[in-house]
Amino acid sequence: MNIPVEKTPRLTIPKLGLGTWQLRDAEGQKSVENALRLGYRHIDTAARYGNEAEVGNAIQASGVARGDIFLTSKVWWENLEPEPLYRSLENSLSLLKTDYLDLFLIHWPTPAMDLEGAIKVLKAAKDAGQIRAWGVSNFPVKLMKQVEDLGETPAALQVEYHALLSQAALLEWCRPRQIVLEAYSPLAQGKLQDNETLAKIGEKYGASASQVALAWLLRQPGVVPIPKASSTRTQQANLDAIPLAAKLTAEDVAAIDALPKDQRMVKPDFAPEW
Ligand SMILES: NC(=O)c1ccc[n+]([C@@H]2O[C@H](COP(=O)([O-])OP(=O)(O)OC[C@H]3O[C@@H](n4cnc5c(N)ncnc54)[C@H](OP(=O)(O)O)[C@@H]3O)[C@@H](O)[C@H]2O)c1
Repeated sequence: MNIPVEKTPRLTIPKLGLGTWQLRDAEGQKSVENALRLGYRHIDTAARYGNEAEVGNAIQASGVARGDIFLTSKVWWENLEPEPLYRSLENSLSLLKTDYLDLFLIHWPTPAMDLEGAIKVLKAAKDAGQIRAWGVSNFPVKLMKQVEDLGETPAALQVEYHALLSQAALLEWCRPRQIVLEAYSPLAQGKLQDNETLAKIGEKYGASASQVALAWLLRQPGVVPIPKASSTRTQQANLDAIPLAAKLTAEDVAAIDALPKDQRMVKPDFAPEW
């Protein structure tokens, strides 16, 4: 399957990625390797997931050239001071067995962070060729504005986004600035598979509710969903949502748009005020 790309001045990123949160150990490694064999070329990991070694092993074992893979990792919020941040990046590179990341994200903001100092480190890493682009995750509009006030533009913003959670304000921020919005938990962590509206739409196309949920995201310009799927069945089903995206009618889209949009799945106690 040929996966389309989103292209901006700062990034060329496959429109669908594989999330790897909770893909760990030998089984997790096998899942990532399998995804690469199926045609995935975009893998999302993070220092916090504790699986970078497995992801690195999977990339090596897959036989897919490193240059053909878009690889993202993230630095945890406790490591945003310059030295820990830099060490975290070096550690990610070492575990992933690569000399560069395609995208490196601040995983979560913290009220205490020195944003300017952190961005300085990210830019230095980019200049040194250790990362191709930098971005942020879990930043509300207020923080995106702070980044802009520093004269900087992240290549991507990764936030929770799916058919039951609106990200209208962040999309409105990102689109004119050509910041890619990566949709994490795009299946609401599996919850959307039971959604009746999505299932009903899917019936027309021989597709599942989850596939319709992904297709709804895939048809949105500037949006890149990164569903986590561990089995061949679900990994392939999610790839098959790509052609489905072109088939959804205006009526289908309106029905999904009309679903309640207030259901946030990821709300740790250190999350910012949305
Ligand atoms: N930046 C952040 O703070 C942040 C936070 C959360 C997540 N993320 C990233 O986003 C990725 C995805 O989010 P997520 O893991 O929270 O949730 P998700 O992708 O919305 O949902 C994953 C769940 O959906 C199931 N699933 C996948 N494809 C399916 C399909 N076609 N039909 C039915 N079920 C399906 C998976 O089951 P199987 O595994 O059994 O296939 C798994 O239980 C993460 O893995 C991580 O890389 C980032």
